[in-house]
Amino acid sequence: MKRFLIIAAATLSCSAWAQTTANSAPTPAQNAQTLNIRSLAATCANCHGTNGKAVEGSAVVTLAGMPKDYIVAQMKAFKTGTRPATIMHQLSKGYSDAQIEQIATYFAAQKK
Ligand code: HEC
Repeated sequence: MKRFLIIAAATLSCSAWAQTTANSAPTPAQNAQTLNIRSLAATCANCHGTNGKAVEGSAVVTLAGMPKDYIVAQMKAFKTGTRPATIMHQLSKGYSDAQIEQIATYFAAQKK
């Protein structure tokens, strides 16, 4: 039991170390702007899946690879109330038009 705990603790600290290293050493391409947009897009992941890929069998649509103009139009329609919704009409109000543009560009560039 004691040995198991030591191994478990060692494994945990290793993966924590690996994560810290990965996060603290961004490639040049991962500049502040890119990370900012990725975090914005990550706020959609709870429902629409990681990087906009909905879990198989999910009732919520996949955003990955969806045309940018379509996403922007839907978000604005949710925001203004012209498209009725159960959830999105509330969520969309939390994003500026500029943020919606950035999020839509991000998802449109993701593979389906
Ligand atoms: C809490 C869950 C949840 C989150 C978080 C969420 N969505 Fe949604 N989304 C839904 C649901 C549910 C629908 C279906 C419309 C409705 O009833 O609100 C939907 C629909 C949409 C649609 C319309 C899809 C179509 O086929 O017309 C778009 C676009 C969309 N969401 C974008 C986003 C974006 C962008 C974010 C992040 C900023 C986001 N959603 C975050 C639940 C969510």
